[in-house]
Amino acid sequence: MKKYIEEIVRQAKVRARQESDAEPEPGLISPVQWPVNCDVKQGLEGAITGQTEIGYVNGPKGWLIYRGLDCFDLSEHSTFEETSYLLLFGKLPSKTEMDEFMAKLNSYRTLPDEALRLLDSLPVKSAHPMSTLRTIVSALGMMDPNSDVTTVKAETEVAIKLIAQIVTITGAIARIRKGEKPLAPDTSLSLAADLVRMMTGKMPNEEDARIMDICLILHADHGMNASTFSAMVVNSSLSDMYSSIVAGIASLKGPLHGGANEAVLADLEEIGSVDNVQAWYSLSKVGKRRVMGFGHRVYKAYDPRARILHPLAELLSRRDPNVRRLYDTAAELEKWVVGDLGKEKGIFPNVDFYSGIVYTAMGIEKAMFTPIFAVSRMSGWGARALEYLKNNRIFRPRAVYVGPLHVEYVPIEERS
Ligand code: SDX
Repeated sequence: MKKYIEEIVRQAKVRARQESDAEPEPGLISPVQWPVNCDVKQGLEGAITGQTEIGYVNGPKGWLIYRGLDCFDLSEHSTFEETSYLLLFGKLPSKTEMDEFMAKLNSYRTLPDEALRLLDSLPVKSAHPMSTLRTIVSALGMMDPNSDVTTVKAETEVAIKLIAQIVTITGAIARIRKGEKPLAPDTSLSLAADLVRMMTGKMPNEEDARIMDICLILHADHGMNASTFSAMVVNSSLSDMYSSIVAGIASLKGPLHGGANEAVLADLEEIGSVDNVQAWYSLSKVGKRRVMGFGHRVYKAYDPRARILHPLAELLSRRDPNVRRLYDTAAELEKWVVGDLGKEKGIFPNVDFYSGIVYTAMGIEKAMFTPIFAVSRMSGWGARALEYLKNNRIFRPRAVYVGPLHVEYVPIEERS
């Protein structure tokens, strides 16, 4: 099975390179000399936060690299654990380094009893899973006696701990939402395989384990996205890594960001079938409604992650007619959106458009899609917060004041 999946990834890379080469944009790969001149639009579009060696997104060409390695090559050959090491430490690990990293991750996989008791006491069934995830990570910060040590070494340890623990928390949330007891982690399995097992209660087959691993690789890092920037802003005040990750989770929850994968599934379920796509899309145009899973602040070409998730969703959808119907509806919707907004505004599927179909085929409920995104992005959040900490300066932009000036104070008795 592994070979077949690797071939799918290889073909996706061929298609991507046929459309555009993997070349950097001039001006976005040279060291920063402050002050930097940049044209900034609303939402900090175009703003430069500093320089990084962690990852690069070439929007016009649909190219994504982590520490110089292409996301296609990492998806074909790497694992989420190895990619997390790469993001955190800047290089692929040696065999010894990988074994030590895996041992450390495994040593952190089990949640403290207090965290499990807290999960038991919270309204996990009714709350949004991202609210629960945010709450438990915040509580873990309270439980960690070293959480306020903000050295790079201490915060690196917390980042590694959370990469492991967010998997277990996400698995526990999924089970409690179904009225089942959380499962203890199985350190003989990869984080991806154990995530699926702890969420579904079933041992994943080789195909699901490998595809979940690829999903976690693909969602791990993506430049200055809203949640990564949120985590970095909090960490830049020398708060602490737990607080920074809570900020990242809070931002990722939004439907304009990581929450889009759940919204996509809701749209596909609402559309119902291929036959309804055209009418649904026309109505969304009339209502000027954003089509979830499409568009991107940086990509004005096909998101390379969607290029890989699309064929993986097609592959998994063959196993269940209901999932196949979701996939066929999505593929038809892509045709309408790309044929219209693709040409007009450079709007293409993003990472969130097909990921939900993959997770649905694995038996995962849509409310859990964004926590899976958080499981992966934890390594990007940690790596970027740590990189910035090494040359830290608190983030403090300005806003232009357009309110009144020199207003006299009027005592309340004299106000109308
Ligand atoms: C993620 O930043 C990252 O890297 C994020 C991410 C990561 O890995 O961290 O890639 C993950 O968050 C992917 C995006 C998931 N969100 C969605 O799928 C929600 C739907 N997408 C849109 O809301 C939107 O495309 C954003 C939020 C993703 C980007 O918004 P921008 O850059 O602020 O774009 P914009 O609002 O300025 O839109 C430009 C034009 C507008 O039309 P005009 O007013 O110029 O006529 O494009 C239109 C928008 O109306 N447009 C869309 C659209 N997205 C943009 N029209 C219809 N459907 C859409 N999805």
